[in-house]
Order: sequence, then C-alpha cells, then structure tokens
Amino acid sequence: MYVPTDIRFGKDRLNELPEVLEPYGKRVLLAYGGGSIKRFGLYDKVVDLLESNGFHIIELAGIEPNPKIDSVRAGVKLIREHALDVILAVGGGSVVDAAKVIAGGVYYDGDAWDLVEDSSKMSKAVPIVDILTLAATGTEMNRNAVISNPERNEKLGTSGWELLPKVSFLDPTNTFTVPATQTAAGAADILSHLFEQYFNHTVGVDVQDNIAEGLMKAVIQHAPTAIQTPDDYVARANILWASTLALNGIPGNGRVGGWTCHPIEHELSAYYDITHGIGLAILTPRWMVYCLNHDATTIPKFAQYARNVWHLEGDDEIIAHQAVKATHDFLKSLGIPMTLPEVGITTDELVTEMSAQAVQHGHLTQSAYVALENDDVAEIIRAS
Ligand code: NZQ
Ligand code: ZN
Repeated sequence: MYVPTDIRFGKDRLNELPEVLEPYGKRVLLAYGGGSIKRFGLYDKVVDLLESNGFHIIELAGIEPNPKIDSVRAGVKLIREHALDVILAVGGGSVVDAAKVIAGGVYYDGDAWDLVEDSSKMSKAVPIVDILTLAATGTEMNRNAVISNPERNEKLGTSGWELLPKVSFLDPTNTFTVPATQTAAGAADILSHLFEQYFNHTVGVDVQDNIAEGLMKAVIQHAPTAIQTPDDYVARANILWASTLALNGIPGNGRVGGWTCHPIEHELSAYYDITHGIGLAILTPRWMVYCLNHDATTIPKFAQYARNVWHLEGDDEIIAHQAVKATHDFLKSLGIPMTLPEVGITTDELVTEMSAQAVQHGHLTQSAYVALENDDVAEIIRAS
C-alpha cells in the first residue's frame, strides 16, 4: 500500500495553496464544475490567491456530474496548448475524476477514451492538486476515475499509478452548501464503498472489518445532522473524513473479490445519467436481499453487520434481514427516492442490455460476493 496524498484537512487552510502548488509550476489548469464554486465564493478566493501569488490560470469550466469524455478531451487540449504544469481541481468527485484522466491524457498519444477503456495504457500524468467540495467518492485519496461516454452508453472506471492527487484540501466548510439530495447521495456512496469491500469472503480481516464498521457507524450517525443542519462542522467533518478513508485502500486491502452494486449502478448512470449515490441507495438493499435469499453462506456476515453496526440481537438469519431493512429505512430517512421509477427509470426496455453490460464490465460471474449472471442482475434491477 502506497498512498502518499498530502491531506490538508480542516478549515482556514486555503492560504497554504500557493506553497502547495509552487513545486509543480506556475501555470495552472483550474478545473471546476457547473458553477457551485462561484455561487459559494470559493472560486473568487482561489483565483485571488493564485493571481496575487503570480500564478497563470487557464480555466476548464462546466465539468458535468458523471463527467463526460468530451470534458476530458477539452482539458487535455488546454494543457497542451498552454503548456500548463499542474491541474487544480475544485469541486466534487466528478471534477477530480475528470482531472485525473486529463492528467493521464496529456501524456497519451491518442484519444483519452482509450485510457478509460484500458487502464494499462495510462502512464505518466500531470500532477493534480484538489480542493474537494463534496464528501462521497474518496477520489481525493485514490487512483481511480470514472468517466462517461454518452455516445456509447458507457460509464467506466479506470485507474493509474500516477493519478493519485499530490495534495487534497479537505475543508468541511466547503461542503456546507452541498444540497440535501447530494449530501444524502454522498452518504449512500460512502456506505456502498464500505459494503462492497466488507461483504466479501476473505476471512481473518478483522482490522479491515472493524474499520469498515466504524466508518459505517460514523456515516449513519452524522449524515442526518448534515442534512438537517448543513453548516454543522462536526457532522460535515466526520462525513468528509469517512469518505476519504472508505476508499483509500485501508478497509479494502487484503481482501480478494470484486464489487457488485457499483458496476450495476454505473450502467444505470450510463443509460439514464442518474446520480451515482442515489442509484446505489436504490440498488443496495435489493442486492442484499438477493444475497440472503440465494446464498445462505452470506447470512453470518450480514448478521455480523446487524450486530456491530445496527446493534441488533438474536437469530442470525432474522437479524440479517432486519439489518437490510434498517439499511433501506436509513437511506429513505435521508430523503432518497428509493425506487427506480422515482428517478425516471420506468421502462423495462433496457434492463436486459444494462444487466449484460454490468456482468461484463464488473466480472460479476467470477468475482462478485454472490456470483451473478445476466438474469440475476435483471432480477435485482426489476426489484428496484
Ligand atoms: O458542478 P457543480 O456546479 O460544482 O455542482 C455539483 C454537482 O451538480 C454539486 N456540488 C459539488 N460540491 C458542491 C455542490 N453544490 C453545492 N455546494 C458544493 N460544495 O454537486 C453535484 C454533484 O457533484 P459530483 O462531483 O458529480 O458528485 P460526487 O462527488 O458524488 O461525484 C460523483 C462521480 O464520481 C464517481 C461517480 O460514478 C460519479 O461519476 N465515482 C468516483 C469514484 C472514484 N474516483 O474513486 C468512486 C465512486 O464509486 C464513484 O463511482
Ligand atoms: Zn461510489
């Protein structure tokens, strides 16, 4: 494990930005999303700070949620045209993910989509510094990026050794303005990252299991507060740190096996452009029920989850099902629409296609916690 991102956590640390960027150069690609950073004042602060310290800024604005490959291509072009030294990504996971593939794309002699389809083509990358504004993905301390290609109805993950952010500014106050729906989606995403790693057949990984359970409990404790009182620093700080630790390798390393709900959700987003965390929240309880109903060997792990996270007591099978219900009810209590029709996925037409893609992209017949064929994924989607 080697995850040397320099984390600058806490409020009032933005003045460290010039000294952090300086070693990489003075010519900066400032990448951001649809404008939230302008609305809450962060954009002005960053630009003032950089300009007063002699940095030259070129902007890439408008990176979409579920970032599209065209934004990546535009960023690669800007860096090459203006001979930029470093990317400063200011925004949520989508902005940071786009920055990562831009960073790799600059050194790749071909279309950046190739790097998304085949991460082995990723080599050198432009250094990335980020100021994260939304707690969810963990991208601030990992090597992964997820990019969409609407022309092909594809949303795929890639990664690269060089894509790890050099420095991540994690200021909980920058997440105060995240709307309730995105806060809820972020909490669901963090929980899903933990579930994807925790529900796994590797035994003897008590350190990782305990850490995962602790992070789940912190999210369950603090997410409702962050939604009710958006400027609660302690709640926002705990969720932000949980998002980082959930996907930086610590809860997952040492386990063998793959993820399930993420590959399925990525298909929903690829075809319908829904919010990642909302898709996960809807799918996860249905997937959990599927596991319990089709593979009795999963009952003890779900019972462990029930006891340690939800403090339930009793017969394994009964509390396992109660824990799934508790998970569903918790996500619903955050205000998440908990069915696919509620997020506009009303037709059955594409289920077969999406299921087949999820199985293929996610290797669900081989590495999933409970192996899934196309029809099994379709059953989970239809139950959602
Ligand atoms: O675009 P702007 O105007 O900035 O608005 C964003 C966007 O509309 C808004 N927002 C962000 N920070 C805000 C804010 N609004 C008000 N105040 C703030 N402080 O929130 C909306 C969603 O932003 P986005 O960046 O899309 O959200 P998130 O951080 O959840 O990122 C989701 C993307 O990350 C991928 C997802 O698939 C999805 O594409 N993932 C990346 C992972 C990784 N790199 O490791 C792992 C995850 O499993 C996930 O797949
Ligand atoms: Zn996720």
